Amino acid sequence: MTQLSVVILAGGDGTRMNSKYPKVLQKLGNKAMIKHVLDSVLSLKAKEIIVVHGHLGDQVQAALSDYKITWVEQKERLGTGHAVMQALPYLKSDHQVLILYGDVPLITAETLRHLVDTTGKGQLGLLTAMVDNPVGLGRIVRDEYHQVSRIVEEKDATDLEKQISEINTGIYCLNAAYLKQWLPKLKNNNKQKEYYLTDIVALAKQNHVNINVSEPRSVREILGANSRLELAKLESAYQQWQVENLMKSGVTVSDPARLDIRGKVSAKRDCHVDINVIFEGEVTLGEDCYIGPNVILKDVSLGDGVEILAHSIIENTIVHQEVVIGPFARIRPESIIQAGARIGNFVEIKKSLIGEGSKINHLSYIGDTELGERVNIGAGTITCNYDGAKKHKTIIENDVFVGSNSSLIAPVTLGNGATIGAGSVITKDAPAGALSLSRVKQETVKNWSRPKNRSENSEETKAKTKAKTKAKAKTKAKTKAKAKESMV
Ligand code: UD1
Ligand code: MG
Repeated sequence: MTQLSVVILAGGDGTRMNSKYPKVLQKLGNKAMIKHVLDSVLSLKAKEIIVVHGHLGDQVQAALSDYKITWVEQKERLGTGHAVMQALPYLKSDHQVLILYGDVPLITAETLRHLVDTTGKGQLGLLTAMVDNPVGLGRIVRDEYHQVSRIVEEKDATDLEKQISEINTGIYCLNAAYLKQWLPKLKNNNKQKEYYLTDIVALAKQNHVNINVSEPRSVREILGANSRLELAKLESAYQQWQVENLMKSGVTVSDPARLDIRGKVSAKRDCHVDINVIFEGEVTLGEDCYIGPNVILKDVSLGDGVEILAHSIIENTIVHQEVVIGPFARIRPESIIQAGARIGNFVEIKKSLIGEGSKINHLSYIGDTELGERVNIGAGTITCNYDGAKKHKTIIENDVFVGSNSSLIAPVTLGNGATIGAGSVITKDAPAGALSLSRVKQETVKNWSRPKNRSENSEETKAKTKAKTKAKAKTKAKTKAKAKESMV
């Protein structure tokens, strides 16, 4: 079987982005454009991935340290043909080479696989597309037998050629031996004085190499982004595509334009996602889940029948079936919420396990806690987990009842079935099955009359206030009289 090498061109300056970051690192769905390309390439199991970088290449290398890449620098930007030429010394002659752009991020693995699979060893594979607005792109010129004969760039095209709506996507597949043979022959005698990679098409024709044309499944796949406006358009195309896929998997989306997917989402059937929701990282939804408006889920897995109510934010958490969270709840990383638990409004949970059927319904902070089953945490309960230097754990066993406004000073354990009286500050372990409370005893003073402010009521103050009011009235009357005089 022929081995595959992939060459990704990433040498663009991205001047129109007006950014201190290289263009290929601009994000789409919160992921660098070139990472989208690389992730599609990975499934092709290529022997070698070569990235040709230019300006700000260090940043690109640092951002892609997780990928196995051969880096090649293009010191001068002399055109796409010149860019691929830099990769020639790293290409094995018997490899098929797939050439891609780092700033065309929505290309799918399926389209690439189809191009590679249908391009024979002695052919040139060319990905083309029919577009409504071909302005700025290279046009595919075909001969009288409708065979591809060459590509002409917009700037070099005649008026007639400009009317062609079949365009060059810039994605090719061919044997490395052909590249080694043809690239040194490229000339820059064109309007842009560049070494055009597109000229290999005419060279193939001259050398009687068959040209295999294939098309992407969707035109969206071949869109590039050169400016922030194009990036925003690409983002909405990307979002629309992902939301469509989610709906196909059986999810109801209240408004497809108001759901953002910045990562991967998988869902079982009959979930309902309300408006203004953001999914980030890896999100999985069980069957019949409801995600309320303005919810953010990042790296979260939900079991069946979970409800996340409006304005809740959940990160890096596993939520088991039939749990209800929110509205206005925040669940921070490394938490596990077990089946049937209920987390209510203004509750923050961090790095904690919440056992089956437990309830934390209002205004609480539960951090570094292991909480058992059927526990009830009263409103305003705080686990005081931080002593200024270290974090400490709170253990709350099964069937515990914590009264409202209690502070649990960690490290502390509340035993099975313990009850904590409201308003307690618990500094010692609370024994199982007992009531623990640390409240100050209530006292009553009978016939208590509230203290009064003496100066306010004294005769002297009363007289002073009277005099002041009189003086004010006099001044007012004088001003009025003067005003009347001047009018006359
Ligand atoms: C190129 C094609 C055009 C095609 C279009 C599709 C050529 C001559 N033209 O045009 O037929 O329709 O793409 O988008 O190939 N790059 C380098 N080094 C260089 C020049 C470019 O790495 O010296 C990289 C760019 O960063 C970019 C890609 O190659 O990722 C394409 O370059 P660009 O200048 O955008 O080419 P186009 O003029 O758009
Ligand atoms: Mg371009």
